[in-house]
Amino acid sequence: MKKVLLTSLVTLVLSGASLNAYDLKINMQLLNADLNIVKEGFMTSDKEGVGIAIERLAKHTEELLGNQEKFAKMLPAKKKNKAKEAKMSAQIIAHNIQIIRDAIVNKFNQSETIRREEAQRAYTYIEHACFRCHNIVRDVE
Ligand code: HEC
Repeated sequence: MKKVLLTSLVTLVLSGASLNAYDLKINMQLLNADLNIVKEGFMTSDKEGVGIAIERLAKHTEELLGNQEKFAKMLPAKKKNKAKEAKMSAQIIAHNIQIIRDAIVNKFNQSETIRREEAQRAYTYIEHACFRCHNIVRDVE
C-alpha cells in the first residue's frame, strides 16, 4: 500500500504536476466529502448530523478558499486570475452555513417547516457556489 502510494506520488512529481495542484485536488476532494455528509444529513433529516457536518465544511472552506493568495498559488499559471473567485465563493458558502446554523438553533423563532426549508435552500446555494467556480475555471476561453 505504502509502495503504491509512493510510486504514484513520484509519478505525479515526475510527470510535472506541481505539488500545489496535488494539494488543490486533495483539498477539493475533502470539500466534496464534507458536502456529501451535509447532503446525507439533509436527505435523512438528521439535524444533529447536519450541524456537525457544516462545521467541518465551514472550517475546510475557510482554510482552502478564504485566502486568495494561497489559493492562487494552487492554480495553474493561466488560471491565476481566477483566484478572486475563491474569496467570493468562500463568502457565499460562509453566509449560507450561517443560515443553516441559525435554523438549527431557531434564532428567529420560526416554525420547524420554515427552518427546514430555509436550511435546505441554503445547502443548494452552497452547492451552487462550487459549480459556479468550477464553470469559471473549467471553461476554455
Ligand atoms: C474558487 C474556485 C472553486 C470553488 C469555490 C470550488 N472549487 Fe472545486 N475545484 C476548483 C479547481 C481549480 C479544481 C481543480 C481543477 C479542476 O478540476 O477543474 C477543483 C476541483 C474539484 C474537484 C475534483 C478533484 C479531483 O480529484 O480532480 C472536486 C471533487 C471539487 N473541486 C469539489 C468542490 C466542492 C464540493 C466545492 C464546494 C464546496 C468546490 N469544489 C468549490 C475550484 C473551486
